[in-house]
Amino acid sequence: MRIDILTLFPDTVHAVLHESIIGRAAAKGIVEINCVQIRDYTDNKQNQVDDYPYGGGYGCVMMAQPLKSCLDAVIAQAGEHRRRVIYLSPQGQPYNQETAKRLKRDYDHLVLVCGHYEGVDERFIEACVDEEISLGDFVLTGGEIAAMAVADSVCRLVPGVLSDEQCYIGESHWDGLLEYPQYTRPELWEGRAVPEVLLQGDHEKVARWRRKQQFKRTRAKRPDLYAKLELTEDSDRALLAELEKEAARTPLTEPLSYRPATEADLPAIMEIVAQAQESLRRHKVDQWQDGYPREENLRFDLGRGELFVLLHGAEIAGFFTLSTREEPTYAGITDGKWTEGLACCVLHRAAVAQKYRGGELSAFLMKCVEEQARLYGLRCIRTDTHKKNKPMLNLLRESGYRYRGNITVKVNDGHDPARQGYEKILKK
Ligand SMILES: C[S@@+](CC[C@H](N)C(=O)[O-])C[C@H]1O[C@@H](n2cnc3c(N)ncnc32)[C@H](O)[C@@H]1O
Repeated sequence: MRIDILTLFPDTVHAVLHESIIGRAAAKGIVEINCVQIRDYTDNKQNQVDDYPYGGGYGCVMMAQPLKSCLDAVIAQAGEHRRRVIYLSPQGQPYNQETAKRLKRDYDHLVLVCGHYEGVDERFIEACVDEEISLGDFVLTGGEIAAMAVADSVCRLVPGVLSDEQCYIGESHWDGLLEYPQYTRPELWEGRAVPEVLLQGDHEKVARWRRKQQFKRTRAKRPDLYAKLELTEDSDRALLAELEKEAARTPLTEPLSYRPATEADLPAIMEIVAQAQESLRRHKVDQWQDGYPREENLRFDLGRGELFVLLHGAEIAGFFTLSTREEPTYAGITDGKWTEGLACCVLHRAAVAQKYRGGELSAFLMKCVEEQARLYGLRCIRTDTHKKNKPMLNLLRESGYRYRGNITVKVNDGHDPARQGYEKILKK
């Protein structure tokens, strides 16, 4: 790629474009950037390149002759090329990554003409310019900053300028999205931690997290771009659906806590049970569909001090029963086995209010369960769920629970008693 920048300030432009990455690429001959002094081509005896505007008005206008002579000299010197003459102007089309890609793809010689003062004689634009590009809807003193922006953004797409094409694929605006957030060392800076997923070495998970972050921040920062997204990949469509669902969820704005439930909490807990039963029914999961858990089950848990409520501020946002009683049906595990020789507690019933489902509160519930297990002096937690209860299965896996085998629970006739058994051994 050859770029000639026609300017009244070639030294300034040269200095900027011959620094760092683009400068190194130019030194290696991967790109060629020439900054050409327009004034060197004026026929005017006083070396003038501008004059007063016809019709009056403020300021001066750059004359067509020096610009045309300068352009002719550059073209003669460069020879045959797929060439584009571009005038940087606040009246041009706003510049973006798509234009950068097009310029890199369709041309190998760009001539960037920088105006100054009040602009350039219109006849030069009519006669010699192929395209006008604007850096944005504001007015600069001269075209140099805009020309440098175009030259830099086009050059970095030329193979060999960056170490790998992956460096720009996936960056902001490559496919209509903004880039995911980036972090470097240290892991903890002024109390702010790097997201856990980036530290685990699971490349698939990292890729999924990053892609989702791209959608998330484009939605938040550039709703105009988000509204225009056209997705072709099923995986992207699924991520977007997930994000929309999350966005519809009630945000957690109050502190989270948990405490043992009291009699007065039972109506709120039963309301959450009803919401969970309805949600499972809608998703065709035959779990909690025979009326279980009933108020009497929860009252029993309450009596044993094994029923807890999650609080979002003062609001009851979820509940769980963590029991130290052995669950008799777990003894009949098939297709696997529980870890032997451990005293365990059992997470019997748990749910969060519909408006908080699938979000941070569910992860908080699992943390409370662990804390409560430790308070019981136990390091092993067992639980079970239906194989079609995807949200619960995901939550268990994400929380570090391992599948141990299948169990059969007691349910009313006509309902599916098959459950999957999960277990987590807490670190000391
Ligand atoms: C002060 S401006 C002239 C503006 C002109 N009188 C007008 O109102 O359209 C001087 C030069 O700066 C450059 N320039 C100013 N704003 C620009 C922008 N948003 N994008 C690209 N170039 C710009 C152009 O080359 C222009 O000739």
